[in-house]
Amino acid sequence: MSAGATASQENLLQQPGKAAGPCAMVIFGASGDLTKRKLVPALFNLAKANLLPKNFIVVGVAHDELTQEQFRDQATQFLATADRNTEASDWFGQRFLYERGSFADASTFSLLVDRLKKVDEEFKTGGNYLFYLATAPRFFAQIVQQLGAAGLSNEEQGRWRRVVIEKPFGSDLESAQTLNRQIKSVLAERQIYRIDHYLGKETVQNILVFRFDNAIFEPIWNRRYIDHVQITNAETVGVEQRGGYFDNAGTLRDMVPNHVMQLLSLTAMEAPVSFQADAVRNEQAKVLHAIQPLDSEEVLHVTVRGQYGEGLIADQKVPAYRAEPGVSPESRTETFAALKLNIDNWRWAGVPFYLRTGKRMAERHTEITIHFKRTPFAIFQHAPVRKLHANQLVIQIQPAEAISLSFGAKIPGPVLRVGSVDMSFEYTKYFKAEAYTGYEVLLYDCMIGDPTLFQRADMVEAGWRVVDPILDVWKVLPPRRFPNYAAGSWGPKEADELLARDEREWRKIEP
Ligand code: BG6
Repeated sequence: MSAGATASQENLLQQPGKAAGPCAMVIFGASGDLTKRKLVPALFNLAKANLLPKNFIVVGVAHDELTQEQFRDQATQFLATADRNTEASDWFGQRFLYERGSFADASTFSLLVDRLKKVDEEFKTGGNYLFYLATAPRFFAQIVQQLGAAGLSNEEQGRWRRVVIEKPFGSDLESAQTLNRQIKSVLAERQIYRIDHYLGKETVQNILVFRFDNAIFEPIWNRRYIDHVQITNAETVGVEQRGGYFDNAGTLRDMVPNHVMQLLSLTAMEAPVSFQADAVRNEQAKVLHAIQPLDSEEVLHVTVRGQYGEGLIADQKVPAYRAEPGVSPESRTETFAALKLNIDNWRWAGVPFYLRTGKRMAERHTEITIHFKRTPFAIFQHAPVRKLHANQLVIQIQPAEAISLSFGAKIPGPVLRVGSVDMSFEYTKYFKAEAYTGYEVLLYDCMIGDPTLFQRADMVEAGWRVVDPILDVWKVLPPRRFPNYAAGSWGPKEADELLARDEREWRKIEP
């Protein structure tokens, strides 16, 4: 038994779920990175857990000239060494078919219709299709329209057809609305699975369990007890091979309307009446709609942008953003963003949410911290205090998946001294959980038709509604002093000043 887990929990962990029903998964953009790094390893993990249907096939579609074998080898190259040449990997390897084609060309889709008919006959996949759009966003609407025109989106005689759309979903509110209109002219909302891989992370899902399966936190989860909330999403990586995309997008677009808004909405939402998809998503949408949009004056005061210059990451010298491949040497794109938002509802009125996210920061670290109010009267005010702060509840998303609560305790000894101590829980220590990609649960949920962890049209648009006014002001007022933080630091000093003005500071994140 895992250290700390009770016998019944251990039992629960080993209980197999029910395998999804027969289906074919069609991956558009199948020769890209997402397929080999995330989708294929996740599918394999599902196969090992007996959650993948026995009647299952992957049809990869891409522009590249590849044979069936080349596609199979390419797709499965990131399976762990221990997983190769096993019975499971042999079975799995036979599930990969390839179809070369252009997404603009209607004949690709008529070939696909024939291919899928044969697949249904040979592999008994039942005419159920999961289309995964792992392509550049400019193809999203086009592919959906082609699927519609080829009759591949029709759900008849109990067969299902679902489409997973990757991010970025639009580049501002208007483009997101347009994309929603385009895909909804072909598909019903229940067929659309807008993916945000943050919802596949265990600790992100655990926010719901933590909040709504424990009676002790909810009564204090509000403005009476909480002083403010911080969300930090720090990466040490730069733009890697994605300079071209990133230089047009910037950190605000890349991270905030999607990943950061997921973290915020799960933290701030009201309790749903059930764990049904729409019950949960209605509450998330409500809280996103309650975020006060910033006016231009506020954008100047409560948002900060930054771009990294050269610096040190793990003692290695790394180049400035402007020297990265695919990035303009005069780029004014932000690689760091910090903002303060307010949520206009009874629970959160007057409780600021401070958000920061950036690339090439000192540590890879994502967390949500609930900073509670101080005691109304400090009876130990004359006792020497070591590192004492108000209670903090830290929900760590990555790299460690953990939750800890800090509180004041008496330091042993004859003299009364008070210090901060932690009560903490770590996923891997407690559950000895295997490392998953996060895509397992999302793919499985698509196959069984559970959209709880996917974004509805209104949620995506609500995220953009928060970000749009900031994008507008930033566009007309280009940054004056970029780069303004060194790679390997915690971002520009203005981000610290944002909190200092409110007599607060970012929680110190130790390596
Ligand atoms: C992606 C962004 O959606 O999320 C990337 O486009 C970012 O720029 C990545 O690096 C972060 O994901 P994770 O799971 O590593 O936090």
